[in-house]
Amino acid sequence: MIKPDLSVNICGVEFKNPVIAASGTYGFGEEYDELYPLEKLGGISCKGTTLNPKDGNIPPRIAETPSGILNSVGLQNPGVDKFISYHLPRLKKRDTVVIANIAGASVEDYALTAQKLDDTDVDMIELNISCPNVKQGGATWGVSCAGAYAVTKAVRSATKKPIMVKLTPNVTDITEIAKAVEAEGADAVSLINTLLGMRIDIKTRRPVLHNNVGGLSGPAVFPVAVRMVWQVSNAVNIPVIGIGGISDGADIIEMMLAGASAVQMGTAIFTDPYAPIKAIEQVERYLSDNRIEKISDIVGQVEPW
Ligand SMILES: Cc1cc2nc3c(=O)[nH]c(=O)nc-3n(C[C@H](O)[C@H](O)[C@H](O)COP(=O)(O)O)c2cc1C
Repeated sequence: MIKPDLSVNICGVEFKNPVIAASGTYGFGEEYDELYPLEKLGGISCKGTTLNPKDGNIPPRIAETPSGILNSVGLQNPGVDKFISYHLPRLKKRDTVVIANIAGASVEDYALTAQKLDDTDVDMIELNISCPNVKQGGATWGVSCAGAYAVTKAVRSATKKPIMVKLTPNVTDITEIAKAVEAEGADAVSLINTLLGMRIDIKTRRPVLHNNVGGLSGPAVFPVAVRMVWQVSNAVNIPVIGIGGISDGADIIEMMLAGASAVQMGTAIFTDPYAPIKAIEQVERYLSDNRIEKISDIVGQVEPW
């Protein structure tokens, strides 16, 4: 049998395979570039970038949990200008899709950040709407249709780049939010961001994170992510990128059967930096063994009872 075709096209952007490094777990790729050629990945979603540099939250801001981690890094990043002048040119020398992940405290922050990126050769912009809307008392943008809609609208009018809105799972009905951002011009949605969690040290009676609460990620969240990807892909007509607890090639196949056109891997990279590379090989083997010629042929092919 011929080598299976792993390429996917997401709103006009060609990925050589469907595996993207998830934002915040891969920095700007530099540390991993020393281990293997970044060209092996379908794409890289860069660390969440804001209009101005941010120091992030006070430590401790990361803790292990059964089958996962809890984090409250708080969007530590060098700011969009440094991203554009330093990190982006280095990444663009690598033959992989480069996605800028942006966040903001106000609609204006998002729009200005997107506008700056519009003049660059970044391939795509991912909107992290799981951060607080400062003017609305700190409620997360993505937990209401109005918040998600406002950010998407502002960014849509600020850039012609393809935009992918990253949805938070901390909502009652994620399909409503997905439909709202699709109506405002999102080219794709990615999900899920982390699930809000908390742990307490019973000796000190202090929460394990200085921020008290944080986002849960890793294998523990995988079934939640599969469920939400399945629901959202049945509710919208734009591509869905599956994220949350993916560890290996079998998880990627499962997520794509649920309806994901591509996937992102995050926490798994902390335990094994080679996890995405191994997963790509496992996906290729699965396709060959099952005589499937194109990875895109399995998208949404789950057969519900
Ligand atoms: C330490 C850490 C930092 C993260 N930072 C960001 C970020 O800056 N922007 C963002 O959209 N998501 C961020 N995420 C969320 C991940 O991109 C991903 O959505 C989530 O961790 C679920 O996938 P996983 O279980 O494969 O890690 C972060 C996750 C972790 C663990």
